[in-house]
Parts: sequence; structure tokens; C-alpha cells
Amino acid sequence: MEDFETRLKQALESPQNQGEMTDADSVGTVGSPDCGDMLRMWLKFTEKDGQKVIDRASFQSFGCQTAIAVASMATEILKGKTMEQARAMKASELSGELGALPPMKIHCGQLVEGALKEALDGATSAQPTRTPTTSTPETLSSQMQQSRPAGVTIRLLDPS
Ligand code: FES
Repeated sequence: MEDFETRLKQALESPQNQGEMTDADSVGTVGSPDCGDMLRMWLKFTEKDGQKVIDRASFQSFGCQTAIAVASMATEILKGKTMEQARAMKASELSGELGALPPMKIHCGQLVEGALKEALDGATSAQPTRTPTTSTPETLSSQMQQSRPAGVTIRLLDPS
């Protein structure tokens, strides 16, 4: 069986479901306090056998490669899941074929789980009769630009 790095590399060769979903029903965005990375997940629902199930999921990440790989796996695994099934899924299940994440990477999977939970919460609370939120949702990239201004250069300290 390959090691984690090999599985990660394979997953990153063709990440699935990456990018904004313009017709999404719900979206969740979270940032990691551990590393400052952010991840956004979009969900589109459909009805199957009288139940609301996830039709499609997509993500955008300015996080590390592990978060991208887990999100790629998760957005595939989530297809066809009911709200309850999706809500019950832990990061370890969402990472699919990647398998168990190394201890230093556990929070990367939790970032994906967190974005999913946020999106599910948004879907649960969304009531057509309620006044929609007035704030314009920012794009992830605009949030990232605010927290990490473009053009920042890193000056290496003189070895003295
Ligand atoms: Fe922070 Fe992976 S290192 S999400």
C-alpha cells in the first residue's frame, strides 16, 4: 500500500469539483486557526425518493495541498448523501482513498469538514420566507487578498 505522500500526489493530479458553483443552494466558508488557510464549499441539492440529497458539491481552497486533496475526495463522496448523512461524516471519512491523515495534517481534513458543516447549516436555516441576508458575500479570493495583500515580498534576514 502506498504511503500518504503518494496517495496525496495521485489525488492532486486531477482534483475533482474545484471552483465556484454559480447555481449552488448553499455555501460554507471556514478558516483554520492553526495555519490561516481557508476553504469554501458549495452544495447543490436535489430530491431523491422524497428526500433532500446532495446533487453536487464543489470547493475553492487557498489552503495546503492536503486540504485540496481531501476536498476533492469529499465532494465526490458527498454526491447522493442526505443532509443527515453528510452532517454525520467526519474528516476521516471525507478523506476517502487518501486514508488517515498524518497528525500534522488532521486540521486540513477538519477544514473540509468545517466548510461542509457550514454549508449544511446554511441550507438548513435557509427559509424562503425570511429576508435574505443583506451583506454581499465576498469571494474567497477577495477575502484572501484582504488578509494576504498581493505583492508582499519576503525579505530574508541578514545572517549576522
Ligand atoms: Fe492548514 Fe493544511 S496546513 S489546511
